[in-house]
Amino acid sequence: MPYAQITGWGKCMPPSVLTNDDLATFMDTSDEWIYSRTGMRERRISHVSVDELAYVAAARAIACAGLHPNDIDGIIFGTTTPTTLAPNCASYVQKRLGNEAAAAMDLNSACCSFLFALSNAASLIRNNMMKRVVVIGAERLSWALDWTNRNVGVLFGDGAGAAVIEATDEPIGVMSSKMGCYGEVRETLAITNFGSGFDRNLDTYSHITWNFEGQEIFKRATRGMVTATEEALERAKLSIDEVDVVVPHQANLRIIDAVAKRLKVPMEKVMVNVDRYANTSAATIPVALCEAVEEGLIKPHSNVAIPAFGAGLTWGASIVKWGDRVTPINECDIELPPCEQSALDLIQPYLQTVKKSAL
Ligand code: UT7
Repeated sequence: MPYAQITGWGKCMPPSVLTNDDLATFMDTSDEWIYSRTGMRERRISHVSVDELAYVAAARAIACAGLHPNDIDGIIFGTTTPTTLAPNCASYVQKRLGNEAAAAMDLNSACCSFLFALSNAASLIRNNMMKRVVVIGAERLSWALDWTNRNVGVLFGDGAGAAVIEATDEPIGVMSSKMGCYGEVRETLAITNFGSGFDRNLDTYSHITWNFEGQEIFKRATRGMVTATEEALERAKLSIDEVDVVVPHQANLRIIDAVAKRLKVPMEKVMVNVDRYANTSAATIPVALCEAVEEGLIKPHSNVAIPAFGAGLTWGASIVKWGDRVTPINECDIELPPCEQSALDLIQPYLQTVKKSAL
């Protein structure tokens, strides 16, 4: 049975930065509150579609693996904020890459979308159904946020990351996964008025609302990430002391801290970039993986634990044995179109629709 190795990694963060002070210009909040409760300093706001962010991240990951787009036989796109209901986002990436034959599928498990997509890709490869799969986590949450609700408005950002997973005979790559869901508390994190369950005559776009019970999510998130990591380690026949790096979902520095303490892993082994990008949902893990390699935290042969949780409340973890290579084979010169607008300019249309719906 082949193994499923990560051979390419890429990210695409939109350039416009929204700081905590920017948020405080239109919301009753402060840099002090946001930073002390979440560890977040700033987030990115996208001027392009989530598909386009994902395409650039995927192209970079494919170049990093030294492959041509036509070498890819599967694209799994994890997102909660697809550009269209149909067609799916993965088919957009396939078309933009110029790939002619890859199966293209989307997967929505909120912030666990990338992790679950990675586990699925590994299964497809291990069962000889595919050889090279691009796994994407990308979001344009700025579109879906309720910018009148400070409980959620400060927590999220936009971005994309991708990884190439390839079949190999060496015993490395995705060694195990544990995936679960606390469905009984699914309403604690919910977008409450968008989707096919709602009245089409209502102008839902004008004001999307969220139900968000932060403290309940916090408790479940910690429990789910710890349980999943322990079970995935057992399946991979590794102890926690053999883990070199933890790349957790980046929702809140306090959650990351609590998970590290419960697992008894020192914070020096934990990848953190929530300060720079806030919570980009499906994108946090592939972006953090990419930066963990770039910053030298992931080294050749590192054992990497990847725990996540998200709306649902989905939770899970994978254990990855990294290969020999921590540098890209090829660089990629594909870039996003330039952006002339500030992040505050970019969210103006969303603030306007909130005002309209309040009339
Ligand atoms: O990836 C999945 C999505 N992410 C999550 O689900 C995150 C999970 N939860 C959390 O990260 C934390 O629960 C939060 C960061 C959301 C909130 O932190 P907390 O320490 O649980 O704060 P809290 O909800 O208990 O609120 C404390 C106070 C409240 O005021 P009172 O009632 O004590 O007067 C809130 O109204 O802070 C107030 N507050 C704010 N103040 C300034 C809530 N949001 C804000 C804000 N700015 N943005």
